Amino acid sequence: MKILSIETSCDETAAAVVEDGVKIICNIIASSTKMHEKYGGIVPEVAAREQLKCIIPVITESLQPFFQTNSTLLHRSVELQSLRMKETIIKSIDAIAVTVGPGLIGSLLVGVETAKTIAFVTGKPIIPVNHVIAHMYANLVDSSFVIPGLTRNPSSFSTGSRLGGRDDNRKIQFPAISLVVSGGHTELYLMKSSKDLTWLGGTLDDAAGECFDKTARLLGFGHGGGASIQSAAEKFKVSSLKFKISLPRPMMHDTTLNFSFSGLKTAVMREWKKCHPGLDPGSSLKIDSGSTAGMTNAFAYKIQEAITDVLVKKTLRAANQFGAKSILLSGGVAANTRLREKFSILNSQFSIHAPDAALCTDNAVMIGAAALFNGTPTDWHSITAQPDLSVEI
Ligand code: KG4
Ligand code: ZN
Repeated sequence: MKILSIETSCDETAAAVVEDGVKIICNIIASSTKMHEKYGGIVPEVAAREQLKCIIPVITESLQPFFQTNSTLLHRSVELQSLRMKETIIKSIDAIAVTVGPGLIGSLLVGVETAKTIAFVTGKPIIPVNHVIAHMYANLVDSSFVIPGLTRNPSSFSTGSRLGGRDDNRKIQFPAISLVVSGGHTELYLMKSSKDLTWLGGTLDDAAGECFDKTARLLGFGHGGGASIQSAAEKFKVSSLKFKISLPRPMMHDTTLNFSFSGLKTAVMREWKKCHPGLDPGSSLKIDSGSTAGMTNAFAYKIQEAITDVLVKKTLRAANQFGAKSILLSGGVAANTRLREKFSILNSQFSIHAPDAALCTDNAVMIGAAALFNGTPTDWHSITAQPDLSVEI
């Protein structure tokens, strides 16, 4: 079963062909992230325009392994291009999967309407997919099934690995606890099987990724701050800490499975001002200059420790409460090496799984996997973009 999958919920335009939910045949991603940097956050109109520009080239590229000749379609006439695309899908693809929400309405509409048109023109079934839930299915994709020579994006291939464990024991055991931790979501699910999901809790305010991004901006880093915080934190040496930075672990000991990260952001601001009297956070910071850089690295380390401590503790609480055998990490923040390291220590109690970093952040492979394992073909007339689609199932 080969699924052409499309993901356009935010600032990535992604298309992939996934076989049987586990084999990546092709995985293409175009991102407009850089264009938003100067605005300090994603500008929905800019993201939607970029989606429109990229959607057809990205889908065409994802089908490249199935074209008969080596020549790319992009140089041909529009008529020939659309005809060959249609023929290729009819011959080689079994279904279309598309993210319908949650996300930005302008971005979602581009992917949803394109997918519906493809389904209508080719007569293929179409499967609507929830973006947040799809993240966890990146754990079911297996890198060893990548078909050599047909793939276009080598960095995305090794995935579905068991953290801190032996390579020959990748199987997820149920019940499992799944932590989806991204820019907009921090959610915990109980997975009794690959189809049977129950939402257990989520953030009451900011998501963990949002906390990384907002505090990264306070420190003077640009958009997409989680990775910047990680690399600054890696440069920090605990022994060199000459000042006290004390950050809370919000709701870490609370008995619910909910999270809260907005207070942490405020605490970072307060501590920052204590260490830099008279200086606006992020304003005149020279990240690579002497003692300021040392201070920034210290803040990055402390922020990363606080966020990851809470994520590990809450997930562990859920795992113990529901007798989980496996823990699954997913979403952009699951790419964080410190988070992965902290979870890997729990490896003697649970099998801990996380996708390769490139499949933690937004991609279309996870959409194809989710469609196969937990999707339902739906009449294209009734599929619509749903920016506020609930993740509480
Ligand atoms: O899943 P994703 O690509 O998009 C959403 O669905 O939101 O997640 C993006 C989030 C951003 O907040 C980004 O800062 C965070 O993932 N992120 C990281 C790392 N890489 C991406 N956070 C911490 N450490 C990282 N290495
Ligand atoms: Zn995402």
